Amino acid sequence: MNKQWTVIELINETTGYFKKKDIETPRLDAELLLAHCRATGRVQLYTNFDRPVSETEISSFRELVRRRAAGEPVAYLTGYREFWSLKIRVGKGVLIPRPETELLVEEALNVFKPAVFAATQLTLLDIGTGSGAIAIALAKELHESIIYAADISRAALAVARANSTEHGYAGRIRLVCGDSVTPFRQKELFDLIVSNPPYIRSGDLKGLAREIREHEPIAALDGGIDGLDFYRQWIPQMPALLRGKGWVILEMGAGQAAAVAELFQQTGLFNAVKVVKDYAGHERVVLAQKQYG
Ligand SMILES: C[S@@+](CC[C@H](N)C(=O)[O-])C[C@H]1O[C@@H](n2cnc3c(N)ncnc32)[C@H](O)[C@@H]1O
Repeated sequence: MNKQWTVIELINETTGYFKKKDIETPRLDAELLLAHCRATGRVQLYTNFDRPVSETEISSFRELVRRRAAGEPVAYLTGYREFWSLKIRVGKGVLIPRPETELLVEEALNVFKPAVFAATQLTLLDIGTGSGAIAIALAKELHESIIYAADISRAALAVARANSTEHGYAGRIRLVCGDSVTPFRQKELFDLIVSNPPYIRSGDLKGLAREIREHEPIAALDGGIDGLDFYRQWIPQMPALLRGKGWVILEMGAGQAAAVAELFQQTGLFNAVKVVKDYAGHERVVLAQKQYG
């Protein structure tokens, strides 16, 4: 007769196996995969530690453990990643949203959540929306806003569409396929432009963790020789799209803050350029407000 595994036994065994395979967060990954196979949450695993796991659940769990050990990210195996306390669907060809990107959302809310904007119908643009994570978080928090979520990748937009529908924001999130700001010809359309663009230096791509390098879309990561291609090409075009004293809030990589701030200054059309550090102490987000008139 086959051994009857309990939840805790499977977690412990898999944690040990993942440690040997140099998985960075072995216990967390084991729990997320097992919770997924049992169609439950991680918390429910804790309240059911001594429960036996069915043969079917074990066989699907074993398959996911094998793929995880071979380097596939957990989010691609479960199909979801949590962002801003929202369950965001991901899939091949779409970047997995990172926790540090929540800082960009926080900064946008610091600017636009105050009472002065509370009843205003803001129009926002998220360039390179990927899974739609940023757009959906903003839609959740800024209730009156209309958000254009744009990406050059049709695979990404299909996932963003699924996410905006699942979370109930399809009516306020408009998906647009195109190269950065080029689809937006009208002038002074947006109160805020946000973006987490590709910013990894091309030469650094091969040094990324294997699970990123081999599984996540390179077009979502590669920012050119110095990582600044997107900022250099598109920052000069942003003022024309901003309404009044509109804002641009961009994520960037380590060591890029001064160069990105300088690109805003060079336009001569922004003031209040501000750099914000993430919780790890890295300069992560830059905010710039357009000068009026
Ligand atoms: C770093 S990912 C960010 C995804 C998502 N916003 C997030 O924070 O998780 C960059 C995204 O920009 C898209 N992208 C790259 N170049 C682009 C361009 N020129 N115009 C529009 N989107 C672009 C990629 O397809 C990818 O989805």
